[in-house]
Amino acid sequence: MQDKLPNDSLASLYPQHLAMLRQHADKALALAGFDHLLIAAGMPGIKFLDDNHYPYAVSPQFKYWLPLTSAPGSWIAYTPGAKPKLIFLQPRDYWHVVPDGPSGYWVDAFEIVIVRSAEEAVAQLPKGNAAVIGEATAAAGGIEINNPRIVLDYLHYHRACKTPYELELMREASRIGTRAHRAAERAFRLGESELGIHQAYLAAAGQIDAELPYSSIVALNEHGAVLHYMEFTRTPPQPARSLLIDAGASASGYASDITRTYAAADASEFQALIDSMDASQQSQVAMVRSGRDYAELHLHAHHQLADTLNQHGFIRMSAEAAVESGVTRAFFPHGLGHSIGLQVHDVAGFARNAHGETIARPDGHPYLRLTRTLEPGMVVTIEPGLYFIDMLLQELREKPVSRDIDWARVDAFRRYGGIRIEDDVVCTADAPENLTRDAFARY
Ligand code: GLY
Ligand code: MN
Ligand code: MN
Repeated sequence: MQDKLPNDSLASLYPQHLAMLRQHADKALALAGFDHLLIAAGMPGIKFLDDNHYPYAVSPQFKYWLPLTSAPGSWIAYTPGAKPKLIFLQPRDYWHVVPDGPSGYWVDAFEIVIVRSAEEAVAQLPKGNAAVIGEATAAAGGIEINNPRIVLDYLHYHRACKTPYELELMREASRIGTRAHRAAERAFRLGESELGIHQAYLAAAGQIDAELPYSSIVALNEHGAVLHYMEFTRTPPQPARSLLIDAGASASGYASDITRTYAAADASEFQALIDSMDASQQSQVAMVRSGRDYAELHLHAHHQLADTLNQHGFIRMSAEAAVESGVTRAFFPHGLGHSIGLQVHDVAGFARNAHGETIARPDGHPYLRLTRTLEPGMVVTIEPGLYFIDMLLQELREKPVSRDIDWARVDAFRRYGGIRIEDDVVCTADAPENLTRDAFARY
């Protein structure tokens, strides 16, 4: 089933989104003492000693303002009190497809100027005391990029709470991703290779790799134990016992980030472990509530994992002992999740406030990406894991706590790699909205 973007609702929600963005920009500029905010869409990078470019990725600050993800060399110029200006680069070029002129529900909110070169674009920018946000490569035409810390801290902090317009796009990104996850599961059950599963995913998403918010992880059997596995073997293993797939999709520059783990039909012991992880994941999702400290939620997930490890016969110790001694960290060595939005790992996960102060991670948890207290509008992932990682298990074997681990049982599960289950969840004033499970329910 092909979804169409819900353009009517986007059209009605966009003005409020832009109004909020303008308020944040006004405040950030006043705090830092600037008169204008200039945002470069950015240019594609060029490969070393080559004339080929890396895939283009628009600046997240640019796509925050409008749903344009392919606008190299373009700029947004905003002066408080005035209509924002889009300086849109449409080069004279017969080598490449030239971007279409702007159209859609958002164009009336901008003064739009079309230019033919990066230099002409820069010439259209207001002169004077400006915060200029962009990569160094945007400096064509002699403009100085300054990326002021005060402005970025303020804008980044507020990006955590999404507007209703942004949530609508994130629902769409989840729908595209879950549709593709269904296709990937079918390909796994048909015995496809990792590359074959990935191709089924892309075909169902209708997106190419460069459009995805991050590189997909498609891991059969032991490969599931490699946290950032990105190899795509061409031959299916015999037998394929398990699939861990972590893959997202994009909608107008907003991300989904979804992981599912599947057991082969005859791998019932692994399926039972997946079922336990799924139950604890859903209870963690239910705890995404306004006022909740996300770092505490992460620590709670470690206690739940200790219970699961006990129930399935991997360890024999209290949950407290398993967490204190680092046993759970050997099986679950990444964070419970992160903020998500315009970037899959959205900015300001540690921000204490809009002024650059941060909240430290709990001791011993160096990979947690989010320590903020949840507020309505925040979107976070909940992605507990349980992996059989040789390197970490070897370290565990050498500790005194090794006595209370059933190593034969652990060894028997290495062939499945690991489990991760990841949903994208909106914190509301009330019960959380699970973007991922709501979308899976449609397909
Ligand atoms: N796919 C990246 C992550 O789960 O954080
Ligand atoms: Mn994630
Ligand atoms: Mn993920």
